[in-house]
Amino acid sequence: MLDHRARMESSRKEKVEQILSEFRLKEEDLKKVMYRMQKEMDRGLKLETHEEASVKMLPTYVRSTPEGSEVGDFLSLDLGGTNFRVMLVKVGEGEEGQWKVKTKHQMYSIPEDAMTGTAEMLFDYISECISDFLDKHQMKHKKLPLGFTFSFPVRHEDIDKDFEMDVVAMVNDTVATMISCYYEDHRCEVGMIVGTGCNACYMEEMHNVELVEGDEGRMCVNTEWGAFGASGELDEFLLEYDRVVDETSLNPGQQLYEKIIGGKYMGEIVRLVLLKLVDENLLFNGEASEKLKTRGTFETRFMSQIESDSDDRKQIYNILSAFELLPSRTDCEIVRQVCESVSTRAAQMCSAGLAGVINRMRESRSQDTLKITVGVDGSVYKLHPSFKDHFHATVRQLTPGCDITFIQSEEGSGRGAALISAVACKMACMMGQ
Ligand code: BGC
Repeated sequence: MLDHRARMESSRKEKVEQILSEFRLKEEDLKKVMYRMQKEMDRGLKLETHEEASVKMLPTYVRSTPEGSEVGDFLSLDLGGTNFRVMLVKVGEGEEGQWKVKTKHQMYSIPEDAMTGTAEMLFDYISECISDFLDKHQMKHKKLPLGFTFSFPVRHEDIDKDFEMDVVAMVNDTVATMISCYYEDHRCEVGMIVGTGCNACYMEEMHNVELVEGDEGRMCVNTEWGAFGASGELDEFLLEYDRVVDETSLNPGQQLYEKIIGGKYMGEIVRLVLLKLVDENLLFNGEASEKLKTRGTFETRFMSQIESDSDDRKQIYNILSAFELLPSRTDCEIVRQVCESVSTRAAQMCSAGLAGVINRMRESRSQDTLKITVGVDGSVYKLHPSFKDHFHATVRQLTPGCDITFIQSEEGSGRGAALISAVACKMACMMGQ
């Protein structure tokens, strides 16, 4: 009897293992993704192919990072996937001529209707938050320069119409991350976000940035690599779960690379795999709860909790209980394996992209060894227990001849936006504006 049960369990585990093996990527797969990414990057930079390229490679006009001379207060706004942050940042010189950045900040969560509604609704909401922040700090009548970080592409609207403010810089969050890390480490020439969404920027040689005149020096390019895959580049790697996530998303056919990696989607991929295992009678005695059957219920943060559970499986049990499930010990183990498969694939896919960027930088600088620092921000990178380790190891494996340091952006992208404001302000003054 016992023998029979043991055999059943082991064949069950084998079947699960087989289903999850689809998530495993070989080194040659990753190289394929990396080369294709490099090809799209190249097409995005070239005038002739820019329009049709899936990776847009947007010039940011950030040519060099600020040098420590200006002092002042800046208001920095950071609009992320689900939050909106207002920060007051002081930029100045410290005792050893270094920058000091002091901040007051407040986080506002963005209501669903403001997020999915018209741009006007979103900007109204943002205005209310700024107003509230200025009230709290009694600064309503101070004229402050304003830096703005967006973590998704939105067009510039009249944000400065209600208050005494000048919008001096609008930057992508990857750029802001790169700049804020630059203060810690002057080799920081790459910025990356792995949070709700995923994206990277880096310093490209000006002569390759065909969309902008001039050949001297370097300019930061916002890759918008999350859009990679829109021309079929990822088709052979997409699994049935990825296709469902895409089809049921707000932007089917778009941001396919991001949909494998971003925190907005990973939990949903896990949920779909769990349902598949239930369907095959390999999990929860073949029965899913209503909650598990509901789209979007399995949040990505559960993956972090599940994967950091120690041996006792207590956290896993609690999370699954909240899903009205009664998991056995093996169920808990299987759920953990599912989470690991999904997060490891995400880390590896993301590595292929970054390796593509870094190898490109090394080649265009014709250096034998490229010593470079990457500034990173985002909840998946920062909070997941093993994402960064897998990620670092795979990036290094794919970038021979490169010596890479990763640093985390401490105060997030708001600080970078403020520093960009400082430079933009200085330039405006110089131009007599
Ligand atoms: C956006 C990028 C952003 C990234 C990380 C993506 O969805 O398209 O602009 O940098 O998320 O926040």
